[in-house]
Amino acid sequence: MAKALLKKLLAKSEISTLVQAFCQTAQTPVCIYDDKGTPLFGDPGVQEFKCTIPLREGDRIIGAVKGGDDCTIVASLLQYMLNAESERVALGRETLEKYREISMLCDFGAKIGSCLETKEVVRIITGEIRKLLTADIIAVLLCNDHEVITDILSDDGSGEELLVVSLAEGEVVENFLITATPEIVNDLASDPRCAGAPRTFSSTMCVPLKIQEKTVGYVSVNSMKPLEYRARDLKLLTTLSDQTAVALEKARLYKRLEETFYATIRTLAETIEKRDPYTGNHTKRVVDYSLAIAGKLGLPKEYYVRLELAAALHDIGKLGVRDDVLLKDGPLTADEFAHMKKHPTYGEEILKHIKHLEDVIPGIKYHHERCDGQGYPYGLKGEEIDITARIIAVADSFDAMTTDRPYRTALSLDVAFKELIKFSGTQFDAAVVEAFLSVPVREELGMNEGE
Ligand SMILES: [Fe+2]
Repeated sequence: MAKALLKKLLAKSEISTLVQAFCQTAQTPVCIYDDKGTPLFGDPGVQEFKCTIPLREGDRIIGAVKGGDDCTIVASLLQYMLNAESERVALGRETLEKYREISMLCDFGAKIGSCLETKEVVRIITGEIRKLLTADIIAVLLCNDHEVITDILSDDGSGEELLVVSLAEGEVVENFLITATPEIVNDLASDPRCAGAPRTFSSTMCVPLKIQEKTVGYVSVNSMKPLEYRARDLKLLTTLSDQTAVALEKARLYKRLEETFYATIRTLAETIEKRDPYTGNHTKRVVDYSLAIAGKLGLPKEYYVRLELAAALHDIGKLGVRDDVLLKDGPLTADEFAHMKKHPTYGEEILKHIKHLEDVIPGIKYHHERCDGQGYPYGLKGEEIDITARIIAVADSFDAMTTDRPYRTALSLDVAFKELIKFSGTQFDAAVVEAFLSVPVREELGMNEGE
């Protein structure tokens, strides 16, 4: 690299012309060598040189100028230009490094900023740290509202246990948790705070995750082998941690919002049950049966939330049905049944303004459709009916058949299963019925005869 610097400098025509001109004016031969003694400029065979002046880059000798007494001027000139070139290269390298760092931080900020899930935030930051620093275990310690650690998430699950041991035994970490200031300890063995404690790691670096004055967690970077973590590493970790803290807080608030949302949905579902007491616990069973069917159909886990919400809210539209119809003891008249048949549409009307439930509505709107087109309210057929609605139709009908109603007693499980088989492919989707029949209802769903 250093050799390349001298060679690069002499390759510039203005420099070689300048040295050439000096030699001619001063009438003194000059030869320039690299650190291995290879001539880079001049003719070494001309004569014995009186003078040898080394050329340096920093502390290292990277070549020499040989010539008569006047060659000191050429050497000084070259040394000056070497220093300037060296500084320019270092500055370029530093600028490039800074650019890469800023670019990495921008990418990291964009990635982590759009993330609303705590584990995903942890995955992103630990992945980024692993790219930048040497470490055996990188962990994110999460705090609750009282700044007490409640979770330890590491990018390598196997290391979590080790970290817990280290946390329990290391006063360094304990001290860090109290002061919550970034800290590097490169030699835990000689740190007095670790005296007598069994050690898992040799070097550690910890940074708090803070939102203003509140500590929401910590990032801990650990190495089993002794390492020299530098101030620059700690600075980089702090910068990443600042963005991570914001992302973690956002994920926490989002989760809280989501929990509130689901609690509201559960309250809504309970409201339906309270209005129609004959169907006690019907909603919960429809949810359980629907999820069991989805499992047998091999539907993706991400779909379960949508199915669960649709199953829980499938009869929400009954809030719009008149009491004299909904609570009637006995069969409904044609007019009353026509009114009752509007409940899937009422359900859609109630929920259509909730953006978060957009993909849940088809399950509610179509849960009384039949595969043969004889259902209501739209008379859709087969796969025109949303899969969520086809699943709920089987779960809902099975539960209705196996529970007592004011106008009839419950059918036995075997009879209800036979009914599902009888109407498979006409009222019900055949694949959904088949999936439900393969669910060990009694064991898996805790359902016994006569329930
Ligand atoms: Fe219904």
